[in-house]
Amino acid sequence: MWGVCGTLQVVPTQFQIMRHFLSTVDWNRDDLQALLDQAAELRQHRVTDQLKGRTIALLFLNPSLRTRSSFEIGAFQLGAHAVVLEPGKAAWGIEFEPGVVMDGDAEEHIAEVAGVLSRYCDAIGLRAFPLFKDWSSDRQDKVIRSLAAHASVPVINMETIVHPCQELALMRTIQDHLGQPDGKKFVLTWTWHPRPLNTAVANSALMIASKFGMNVTLLVPHDDYLLDEQFMDAAYANADASGGSLDISTDIESSYQGANFVYAKSWGALPLYGRPEEEARLREPFRHFMVDGKKMAMTDNALFSHCLPLRRNIKATDEVMDADYCVAQDEAENRLHVQKALMLELMGP
Ligand code: CP
Repeated sequence: MWGVCGTLQVVPTQFQIMRHFLSTVDWNRDDLQALLDQAAELRQHRVTDQLKGRTIALLFLNPSLRTRSSFEIGAFQLGAHAVVLEPGKAAWGIEFEPGVVMDGDAEEHIAEVAGVLSRYCDAIGLRAFPLFKDWSSDRQDKVIRSLAAHASVPVINMETIVHPCQELALMRTIQDHLGQPDGKKFVLTWTWHPRPLNTAVANSALMIASKFGMNVTLLVPHDDYLLDEQFMDAAYANADASGGSLDISTDIESSYQGANFVYAKSWGALPLYGRPEEEARLREPFRHFMVDGKKMAMTDNALFSHCLPLRRNIKATDEVMDADYCVAQDEAENRLHVQKALMLELMGP
């Protein structure tokens, strides 16, 4: 029998409890720190055979540069093999809803996909962005949950409405440059973008910085850009537990002042989810939230980062992206090391 505890699904196997990596909500700080420490070790010893003969399937419903390459290369460096599948392109389209009459485009159901891949592989990764129509549905993260419900091997979230692998890379990068994160000021600033984007990285940045004791400021141009209450509540609870804090601000100057780390991301306003033209009108006056040298000069010699991809001179200026304080490529590199640590944890002996 499968046990379900909150968002953590555990499957008793013959010798141990199987664990998914769907969200860091389900992982405590010590367990995450162990992954971060392992990632630092793996950075020093890149090629090993610790996962020799093992396999991971990577299901991409959306495009990727960093996630796909870092998982594929990471698996190779550990002696494992990664199979990349793009359902709806070079693999059959998948139906995720239970109990439907499958007379649409999808050729097979997640029940069979998860079951078959569990016979072949030691883990399954999935990228499934929300559909940008109905937030009340998308906020339930049903696609990855249905995969986890049908799989009998660990499932890794490669970005849905959260991006937990990016969280690990961000925190590895913060610790590489700032040491202990506790008490450091972390500013998550919204930035303008030509279209409303996923809230996943913003949700994740908020949760990991608060979990690791940082004093977090969420800088938004308007209340409609606050994040879903499940993530705001998780961040407040994290801050209570870690001794950190979470403040919300619409004031650029006071937010940047004293910052140790500035993290930029663009996302759409949830009250206007699925209504992109209205959302664009709300967003239009806020292009000045772009991160530039003048704003960074207000900080306490802060580092700057972004998950990438990033449109230069839209989200951050060339000056910021080319500055010594920009650690976005360090964070991208750390995707490789933290995901190797994660694969070792979930797929290892
Ligand atoms: N940051 C990130 O996930 O990059 P990709 O979308 O290129 O995978």
